[in-house]
Amino acid sequence: APVPTRDDKFSFGLWTVGWQARDLFGEATRPVLAGVEAVHKLAELGAYGITFHDDDLVPPGSSSGERQRIVDEFKQALADTGMVVPMVTTNLFGDPVFKDGGFTSNDRSVRRYALRKVMRNMDLAAELGAGIYVFWGGREGSEVDFAKDVRAALDRYREGIDLLAQYSIDKGYGMRFAIEPKPNEPRGDILLPSIGHALAFISELEHADMVGINPETGHEQMASLNYTHGIAQALWQGKLFHIDLNGQKGPRYDQDLVFGYGDLLQAFSTVDLLENGAPGGGPTYDGDRHFDYKPLRTENMEGVWESALANMELYLTLRERARAFRADPRVQEALTDGGVPDLSQPSLNEGETHQQLVADRSAFEDYDLEAARTKGYGFARIQRLAIEHLLAVG
Ligand code: GCO
Ligand code: MN
Ligand code: MN
Ligand code: MN
Repeated sequence: APVPTRDDKFSFGLWTVGWQARDLFGEATRPVLAGVEAVHKLAELGAYGITFHDDDLVPPGSSSGERQRIVDEFKQALADTGMVVPMVTTNLFGDPVFKDGGFTSNDRSVRRYALRKVMRNMDLAAELGAGIYVFWGGREGSEVDFAKDVRAALDRYREGIDLLAQYSIDKGYGMRFAIEPKPNEPRGDILLPSIGHALAFISELEHADMVGINPETGHEQMASLNYTHGIAQALWQGKLFHIDLNGQKGPRYDQDLVFGYGDLLQAFSTVDLLENGAPGGGPTYDGDRHFDYKPLRTENMEGVWESALANMELYLTLRERARAFRADPRVQEALTDGGVPDLSQPSLNEGETHQQLVADRSAFEDYDLEAARTKGYGFARIQRLAIEHLLAVG
């Protein structure tokens, strides 16, 4: 298998490899993993970065002295390994105070506390050089439709993000924000449930230019949506600021499997898009390739590191396959035959008006409907070649 290196820009949440595997039905099966150890081990495996929630790094309730010691040791580990912190985020879901949300709790004092908690951690994020700050609002939502004024909740969500954007600007932090959508879990229904909802919300913000999204593979797939299409739209709008890669087997609870361990074919198109852009060109993703997964509960620490490596190896394998796919002359021919490049051509001629379109009899009156109705597009061949490359057969 290909060997990950720093240049591949792989990163992991401290909460991923550090997950103790406590679930709804059972206790932890693994010990606490210190930030320092995670940094060293991930660096050894070839990762480039580590990310964290405030409470992952510094256990809630730590004294300011303890906090300082933990942060200093963490910084030392980064310096010793060359690992970076590309993204930081806030835990606004674990503490019972957030049971009705952080920015959108019905209780105003909770909202003010949530904002302060984020600001404090943004200071640390800036100190560590994080360019991206993620907002995942897992508790922003409801189980009871009548108990949440969604219009007001979105006003408060916007108020919160606007305030924190202003905070970053005034402090000179130069951060970019990335909102992470999810349809449900832990709330029955979460606000900003999909990529599309998040993008629409962002357009209402005061500093919309500094806010993009952090879409997670499994979250879109929980809603039966096409992840590759979702990130393609985000790239199209210049909003793919960060990414959470993992695996999910269709609409069920949030599995956070290793990247590719769900819909492998879609993982292939995801990597192809991130690395090569749309078939007709267009932007690729240049941020860190961030994994948000949960090592299986059955595993000890050996299995944790095994699965961390598996994320990176599978990504690299798919990257190789995607390059070979694009470079294959049979694929190029199939794409051309399928009219894929033709879609980049505008439907009207340059400067053509709707009057001229109406005057063009070949577009309607004399149009050969029968030919268009009966032609085959050749997509079956494209799919067959994609599978051939994915499996490296043929
Ligand atoms: C989830 C989310 C979280 C976020 C994390 C960072 O648990 O479903 O994916 O893991 O990614 O809180 O914002
Ligand atoms: Mn998830
Ligand atoms: Mn995530
Ligand atoms: Mn997650």
